[in-house]
Amino acid sequence: MVEIRHVPDPGDEALTPGEIAAEQEQPQPAPPPGARRADEVLFEHHQLMRRLFEEIEAMPPEDPERRDMMRLLAGELQIHEHVEDEIFYPEVRPVSEDVPVAHAEHQQLADMLAVVLRLSPSSPDFETQLRNLHAAMDHHASSEESSMFVEARRLGDARLREMGARIEEMLDHERTALARKTWRDVKIRLLEGPGIDQ
Ligand SMILES: [Fe+2]
Ligand SMILES: [Fe+2]
Repeated sequence: MVEIRHVPDPGDEALTPGEIAAEQEQPQPAPPPGARRADEVLFEHHQLMRRLFEEIEAMPPEDPERRDMMRLLAGELQIHEHVEDEIFYPEVRPVSEDVPVAHAEHQQLADMLAVVLRLSPSSPDFETQLRNLHAAMDHHASSEESSMFVEARRLGDARLREMGARIEEMLDHERTALARKTWRDVKIRLLEGPGIDQ
């Protein structure tokens, strides 16, 4: 007899209410004093990215700062997806069936971002692709807010705050790492001399 083994997909591990209750009774690390809930931290970051999109869309196409703002937004988007993939989604997976779709949407957003970053901020194509990315990000973030973030409450307040503290720490750490990398790239470009575009 051939045994057909099912390879679990992300999200297959959804727990029953009894299992969730049992998991909540497991000793969890206490959140640091004053820590915010993970969903609050992530919602605030969504809002920050929404504002950045609006700022860039409102800038004149020829404004030289437009590319800098776009790079800032790109970094924030990448960092956001990374902290969700590394911290939030694995923790929320037992209580939310949205995780596999959300993972797939992160990949789509990364592909769309790569397209935008290849375009000149003063080109009409940039406007179109930027608005496409904005709409896709807004759709993804809004569905997290209305579904996954609500389901995450089942993990309990202490666990959400402990997770929120880890997310804030990782956001800070990744921003610092990104700033260092940006500075290294700028330094290399400056040392290589003029004639190198962007
Ligand atoms: Fe996400
Ligand atoms: Fe998110």
